Amino acid sequence: MKTFYIETFGCQMNVHDSEKVIGTLVDQGYSQVDTPDQAELVLYNTCSIRDKAEQKVFSRLQQFKREAGKGKTFGVLGCVAQQEGEKIFERAPHVSLVCGSASYNKLPELLVQIGSGEKRVTGLSLDTEDTFETAMTRRDNPHRAYITIIEGCDKACAYCVVPFTRGPERSRTGESILKEARELADMGYTEIQLLGQNVNSYRDPSPSGGDFARLLRAVGEVKGIRRVRFTTSHPRDFVKDIIDAIDENPVLCNHVHLPVQAGSDSVLKRMLRLYTRDEYMRRIEWMKRSPRNIAITTDIIVGFPGETEDDFQKTLALLDDVQYDSMFSFKYSPRPNTSALGLADAMDEVEKGRRLTILQEKQRAIQLRNNSELIGKVEEVMIEGFNNATLQWIGRTSQNRTLNFVAAGTPAPLQAGQYRNVLVTRAGANSLVGEMVN
Ligand code: 5AD
Ligand code: SF4
Repeated sequence: MKTFYIETFGCQMNVHDSEKVIGTLVDQGYSQVDTPDQAELVLYNTCSIRDKAEQKVFSRLQQFKREAGKGKTFGVLGCVAQQEGEKIFERAPHVSLVCGSASYNKLPELLVQIGSGEKRVTGLSLDTEDTFETAMTRRDNPHRAYITIIEGCDKACAYCVVPFTRGPERSRTGESILKEARELADMGYTEIQLLGQNVNSYRDPSPSGGDFARLLRAVGEVKGIRRVRFTTSHPRDFVKDIIDAIDENPVLCNHVHLPVQAGSDSVLKRMLRLYTRDEYMRRIEWMKRSPRNIAITTDIIVGFPGETEDDFQKTLALLDDVQYDSMFSFKYSPRPNTSALGLADAMDEVEKGRRLTILQEKQRAIQLRNNSELIGKVEEVMIEGFNNATLQWIGRTSQNRTLNFVAAGTPAPLQAGQYRNVLVTRAGANSLVGEMVN
């Protein structure tokens, strides 16, 4: 029996890709082990969104330099693989396999080549016509399932590697997405998360040509599915009909992740984001007017080349205007191939750090206020597990908030995957605390 170990870095797309890779390897007769020491094949599914993420894989590989040739094969998958290609063999000579996400359907073939003695094999084509076979996917979570609806990205944001690492957009047919959703429901999954770098530009490639809102409505109708989420959205392609769909069907979770990246028009323009602050705010208004009380979350980059203090103040003011429920924020990191590399006025890391801290402190106060407003309300959660340290159950609300709770005097024991109503009693900046109600 051949053994493999896989470690995943990066976004949910990568996590889900790893589930597909695991399924493929198991189908090929491999069995998964928990540590690299036990494995004959060691795989890293990598992220290159920021330099720090990219460095992680090389430091991992460094740890195992001496293991090479002792019957262990090392492979680099994902975004660093696609971005660096054969250069990885130079930097880490004990690596034998380099394969980007668009070529995972070639993995069985590549592994056979390694098995027959080839020292270095690559899968780096980005124009793979056939989307990766998903039938063998091994999902990690038995209740919540990821479904890829669109691969790649056709935008050209000045800072972003994704168009290079994941290639051009390819939408899956609605029919195959719905088939997968129904199969998942039959297997007992109740939550589905639709994935894509830009789900809003989804377009059914079959003659029906339905858009994302139509797909969302259809997935929301699948029997047995109680929650549908989606990520990531691009403001430029985000249409009002998506909010209308959420308003119509409570199965569609009241949470939208709408990365803004910056609050100043001049920065947005240089980032090539293709929208203005006003256009972005219009989308926020649609959500604020929704009766569903939609949670809004975002991504922000500080220290993009040429970001002035005034630009930064506009980003801070945007936080006040939107009152985000959560935010991921990053220092700008120059990336290979991207157009922002050519921009002047790079900011030093200390100033980036200063801005990031100010931004995060401001957001923390906003979140604490937003979360506090939920005290006294009853929220439905899906149970994700039990925290042995705090003796609380861990739940997630439709708005994607973590709600930890106690269940005093429950007749039947609780289990992950169940849905329960919880009264919110306390609020922190990052989570809520409550008590189950019957
Ligand atoms: N530097 C810093 N942050 C980046 N992101 C994408 N590219 C970069 C970069 N070069 C951030 C964006 C994106 C999130 C996934 O990562 O905010 O939305
Ligand atoms: Fe990282 Fe982007 Fe690749 Fe996801 S798509 S793994 S975030 S580089």
